[in-house]
Amino acid sequence: MESLQAVVSNLDNGELVRSRLAELGKRHEAYGAKPEHYPIVCGILLETMAKFAGPAWTAEIAAEWSQALQLVSNAMIGGTSMGPSGPATRPHADRTQTRPPTRS
Ligand code: HEM
Repeated sequence: MESLQAVVSNLDNGELVRSRLAELGKRHEAYGAKPEHYPIVCGILLETMAKFAGPAWTAEIAAEWSQALQLVSNAMIGGTSMGPSGPATRPHADRTQTRPPTRS
């Protein structure tokens, strides 16, 4: 929880948030969490929030939370050996664009 609190209170500091989430992801790899587990956990988190929010929960809030959890998951997975610098998760990494295409 301490790490999540640190993330939330530093949301305006993108670099710090990213590095804290990458560290959290590394710890999760040691806990045995695999990238394919993240959508399952996020789905359960969304269901739990919906249940406790009751009628205050809307499709719009659900979509926003879903997107936020997706970003958090990506940042966590990015810190693991399965992340961008790790093996085999991005088979076409060599073809990934780093700059937008130039238009004539
Ligand atoms: C959005 C995704 C997730 C978030 C934000 C999250 C967050 C956290 C946090 C803050 C902790 C406290 C310990 C620490 O800071 O290292 C924790 C512990 C843990 N998480 Fe997650 N987690 C996520 C996904 C997952 C997934 C996908 C799994 C595995 C299926 C998982 C399994 C665990 C386990 C086993 C612990 C250790 C619990 C213990 O110490 O008893 N988490 N998680």
